[in-house]
Parts: sequence; C-alpha cells; structure tokens
Amino acid sequence: MASREQWNSKAGFLMAAVGSAVGLGNMWRFSYLTAEGGGAAFVALYLVFTLMVGLPVMLAELTVGRGSGKSPIQALAHYANGVTGGVAWKLLGVVFVAAGFLILAYYGVIAGWTVRYAGEALMGFGADPAAHFGEISQGIDAFLFHVVFMAVTVWIVRSGVTTGIERVSLFAMPLLFVLVIGIAVYASTLDGVGPGYAYYLNADFANALSTKVAVDAAGQAFFSLSLGMGAMLTYASYLGRDHDLPVESAIIATADFGVAFLAGLMVFPLIFALGLQSDVLGLESDGSTIGALFVALPKAFAGMGDAGRVVGFLFFLALVVGALTSAISLLEVVVSAAIDGLGWERSRAAIVMGAAITLLGAAAASSTDVLGVMDGVANNLFLVGGGLGLAIFVGWLMKDPIAEARTGDRQGWLTGWLFLLRFVVPAVLLWVLWNSVPATLDSIAGLFR
Ligand code: TRP
Repeated sequence: MASREQWNSKAGFLMAAVGSAVGLGNMWRFSYLTAEGGGAAFVALYLVFTLMVGLPVMLAELTVGRGSGKSPIQALAHYANGVTGGVAWKLLGVVFVAAGFLILAYYGVIAGWTVRYAGEALMGFGADPAAHFGEISQGIDAFLFHVVFMAVTVWIVRSGVTTGIERVSLFAMPLLFVLVIGIAVYASTLDGVGPGYAYYLNADFANALSTKVAVDAAGQAFFSLSLGMGAMLTYASYLGRDHDLPVESAIIATADFGVAFLAGLMVFPLIFALGLQSDVLGLESDGSTIGALFVALPKAFAGMGDAGRVVGFLFFLALVVGALTSAISLLEVVVSAAIDGLGWERSRAAIVMGAAITLLGAAAASSTDVLGVMDGVANNLFLVGGGLGLAIFVGWLMKDPIAEARTGDRQGWLTGWLFLLRFVVPAVLLWVLWNSVPATLDSIAGLFR
C-alpha cells in the first residue's frame, strides 16, 4: 500500500479543519437562525450543544479518521471487525458520502450568490434588493455562479491535500479572521447600533425554550462544526500519531464558535443601525429567512454610501472565502471515498464527482424552496443521523476508543468524552430526530403539493 499523504504541519491541519468548520454556516445560517430564535438565547443554546454534543462527536471523528488512516467507508470497515453489525457499518460511511453530495450541491449554489454579491457590492447595490435577490437566487443565473464556484473548488481538491487544500487554507483562514474582526470593529463605530447589540446579546430565554429553537440549535452545532458526515474524519485520516486530538478538537470548536459570534457582531449592528430589523427577521418578504441576509445587508450597504461599497465587498469576500474552504472539505469526503473505494486517481475523482455534484446543484438552483428542503434534509436527517450512528459505533462498539484517541495522557478528559458520547450525545440526537423528522418529511412532500 502506498503510504498515505500527510499534512505538512500542525498549523496546516488546524487551518484546514477550521476552514471546513467556518463557512456559510457561521455567517449566513447562524445569523438567520439567531434572528429566528430570538437572539442571545439561541446563541447560548447553540454554545451548550457545541460543547456537549459537537465536541464529543468531533473527537470521535478525529479518532476514527486518524486511527484508520482511511476515508469514511473504509475507516468504518477498518474498525468494524468483530463488532456487532460487522461490515454493515460501512453503510454508515455510504450515508456520509451521500450527505457530502447533497450538501455540496446546494452549498455551492449559496456560495455562488456570495460570489455574485461580492462583485455587485463594489458596483453599489441597486434600489430593490428583495426583488433582485428573487431574480438571481433561482434559475440560470444561480446555476452559472454555482458552476464557477464549483470549478474553483474542484481545482483546489484536484491539486492535492497539501499542495491544494493545506496551502489554500493557510492563506485563506488568516485573511478571513482579519476581515471578520475588521468589519465587526467598523460596525461598532456606526451610530444607532445599541439596539442591535441588545438584541444579539441579551438573552430572552422565555422565547428560546421552544422545541423548534432547540432542534435548530443542535442541528446548527453539527452543521457549523462540519460533523456527521465524515469531513473531519477524512481530514484526520491525513494526520500522524503525534497530534493531541482532544486539544485540537477544542481549538477547532473555539475558532468556529468565535467566527459565528463575530458574524453576529457584524450583522446585527449593521442591520439595526439602518432600521432594517424586520428584514432579517424575515417579516418583510414571504417569511422565508434563507435570503434575509442577502436582502437586508445590501440595503444596509446601499444606505452607507461609498463606505458601503468597500465594506459590502469585504463582507461578501469573507463569505466567499469561508464557503470555499468548507466546500473543499465537502468535496474531499466524496473524492477520498472514490480514491480509496474505486481506485480512481485524485484528478479523475475530483473532476467526475465535482461535475456530478454540480449537476445535482441544478435542483437547488431551480428554486429557493427546493434549496431550503435540501438544507433541512441534510441537517435534520443526514447529519444528526450520521452523528448518532458514529456516537453509537465509537461509544459502544469500537474496541478501546480511549486508546485510539489518546496521544499523551489526558485520561480525565477522555473518560468524560466517552461518557458524553455514550449517553448524552445519543439522547440529545434521538430527541432532535424525534422532533424534526416529521416536519422534514412533510417539507419534502410539500414540494410536490
Ligand atoms: N461547516 C461548514 C459551514 O459552517 C459547512 C460544512 C463543511 C459542512 N463541511 C461540512 C457541514 C460537513 C456538514 C458536514 O459552513
């Protein structure tokens, strides 16, 4: 067996993993879910799920990936020997790869919107952002920008793990941090931002304690951390034994939460300063919140004159950068599975799988309703179900997961990890599935009514 490619440096792996986690989820999805879920209370719930469910599953993915040195399907087969269910666990890997297909197909469409908006921001946004978004978010325009974005994604993944993914991440992530911090600081200098901060930072728990908000917060924790479909597992398969996985999981989760939190510090002050809160709450349009950010923010930037052009461009540039490093991780799951499972060359795998996913994206580009359903199915069924399967596999079936996760000592951490993975994670995820599956299935049926 040819020896597997490995990351060149610790920072390279961390930037790639943080690059996977930090993306549209932190900025687009986090902002609209926070708005829907009543501000700070949603953020608090989301943080709790990140710590209690996200972190343990992250460490489980890193453990299985590093220990096996394989892509998801083969990684599960590697540990499935002598375990209840045996090689049938490979099916979980197949579900992971299918989720990668599904998510990247619509993720690329949203990323395409951000590419377009970065350009439009420079030229100045027009007078009616809601009508404009309606036109460009669906149909041939949406598809073409999706194709452009996917072409770049394919090109990077095709270039290899260290020469493509690692190199791009080492450059892109620091850039993204600078942009996000810079814009958040700039936003704080505007007049009339007080209510925006109040909305974002004062918890209204009475509002947050609904099942829907909690289910959304749990799903968001998974999506934002890139969990439940083997993305972190795949990246960890290029790791050596010298990595301290518990510490690196914590670093990735902290960076991911940090960028989401900063995104809120950009978005809410900007929007409230211009009195556009009803837009982001989705009260303006048809109540669909998917486009809220793409309607409210262009209005805000248009209201800021020349500064708005620059800030608007930088804001959408940050979104593009985040989306790109996430999209390459989604594609890498599918590509690595094709390399290990079908024996394909990386180049062929990237081009063929990338093209197939791009075509599937036509469904998401056809209407934002379809896109919304794809997002719901991916999160509520695939990621939560995938995370549950992995928690059961690693927590209950795999032999001595603590030894596999360990690098130095950290016995205390790892005992706590196994407890969360065995009891807390499955309980929470089952509860989420119980509460979200009926509505998700109904939303699929709704497309055909
Ligand atoms: N985490 C990314 C975001 O927040 C999206 C993403 C990348 C992802 N890879 C993933 C989500 C794997 C789920 C699974 O935008």
